[in-house]
Amino acid sequence: MKIKSICCIGAGYVGGPTMAVIAKNNPHLKITIVDINQARIDAWNDVDVSKLPIYEPGLADIVKETRGKNLFFSTDIDAAIDEAEMIFISVNTPTKTYGKGKGMAADLKYIELCARNIANVAKTDKIVVEKSTLPVRTAEAIKSILHNTGNNINFHILSNPEFLAEGTAIEDLLNPDRVLIGGECEEAIEALANIYSSWVADDRILRTNLWSSELSKLTANAFLAQRISSINSISELCELTGANVNEVAKAIGMDSRIGSKFLKASVGFGGSCFQKDILNLVYIARSYGLTEVADYWEQVIIMNDHQKRRFSDRLIKTLYNTVSGKKIALLGWAFKKDTNDTRESAAIYVADHLLNEQANISVFDPKVPHTKVQTDLNYLNTRSEAENESGAISVDSAYEAANDAHAIAIMTEWDEFKTYDWKTIYSKMKKPAFIFDGRNILDKSEMENIGFDYYSIGQ
Ligand code: NAD
Ligand code: UDX
Repeated sequence: MKIKSICCIGAGYVGGPTMAVIAKNNPHLKITIVDINQARIDAWNDVDVSKLPIYEPGLADIVKETRGKNLFFSTDIDAAIDEAEMIFISVNTPTKTYGKGKGMAADLKYIELCARNIANVAKTDKIVVEKSTLPVRTAEAIKSILHNTGNNINFHILSNPEFLAEGTAIEDLLNPDRVLIGGECEEAIEALANIYSSWVADDRILRTNLWSSELSKLTANAFLAQRISSINSISELCELTGANVNEVAKAIGMDSRIGSKFLKASVGFGGSCFQKDILNLVYIARSYGLTEVADYWEQVIIMNDHQKRRFSDRLIKTLYNTVSGKKIALLGWAFKKDTNDTRESAAIYVADHLLNEQANISVFDPKVPHTKVQTDLNYLNTRSEAENESGAISVDSAYEAANDAHAIAIMTEWDEFKTYDWKTIYSKMKKPAFIFDGRNILDKSEMENIGFDYYSIGQ
């Protein structure tokens, strides 16, 4: 099966970078990324690549190199489906907010819409690739929709979950630990493997059955998040015993059986994937009647919620049990550094908690637009939009955020935060001046020498 033309439905954090890297490494392939969101497609087509809808280091250069040559962005979904031999589905699969499985199960309505769209439009055989993260056995539903079109067209379904992390998406895509392809038809599997093999060594391209591939993605995210909740649980014990969580993490991480990655204690993990995918795993386990399995993984989320709550509780307690009317500067709003993505960011929940206590929040993030802070708070539905607007403002620099603040809370580990003139920041703040370092990025003794009351995680 020779692939000449690819369509990717969904121009988001996964679809955009993944297809850009495929396009860069396969100049002979024509790749069209389509989306229902006109504004997003317009931003992808903006001549000024600093206006791309997604900030990822290295992405703009690859888009500049490939766009208009073999990479295209469009809202004409039907035309792109019609032309392509291979169609990636890379649409969002958020947690359901209604009906059965509300707050737990993945909402597959966008996936189903894509499958129906493909079924309606296709006039020739297609390979349909699940790029979105999906519950195990979703391919069965997609197959059923596609095979009931009555058009006598052959559809092959593949599962090819994406393992990139935001902030390092391009690096991860260029040098993946592995590429996973699950499927039933060897020819279809090899057609996709062939595309990756233009830059990925064959021993890193794993072929499995469909269900192993679908389930491996949920499992990988659950294992990664579980490590963060594990170290965060220990961080609380460290704070009470005089142990230092950084030292504990280093000591256990040097055991090659444990490994050193993903052991950074923090204010809690965020991002669009971990919580959603674990909730989905828990829901699937429960739906098979596996109570112990479900409870085991649910604890990862319970621990993470506890860590976020504990952070703001500690801040309030330290500020003499009240933050009412006090200005608190939040440095960072993104869920991690080097991204403008704020989905499920710990900052949103900490801000919400502090607003409940009538604090005045001043937010600075190097990449997140001011309006996003309001949208994120409004989405929680905790209070009116007007109340959010008067309680939380966004500013253009950390120095402005810190001006007259009682405390600074570091929510994201942006590198630039380490390079600030902390003496100047100290001079601008109310005294005593507190820092709550939710990422353990600053040096405790340096901050204390300046005069700060410095609190970090697990120390
Ligand atoms: P996203 O919200 O950034 O992008 C999804 C895009 O799909 C949106 O632009 C939306 O408008 C579009 N869309 C939705 N329905 C559509 C339809 N019927 N037709 C055309 N376009 C449609 O989401 P994302 O972060 O790119 O995630 C996509 C999938 O990849 C999810 O399943 C997610 O779990 C998974 N994933 C995400 C990451 C990550 O780091 N963000 C990593 C690995 C896997
Ligand atoms: C994650 C997975 O890493 C990736 O493989 C998958 O494809 C999508 O989900 P992402 O959410 O983009 O990627 O970023 P990640 O680096 O995993 O960080 C997730 C959250 O965990 C962030 O809030 C981060 O700050 C936090 N984190 C990460 C910690 O608190 N401690 C750590 O040691 C690592």
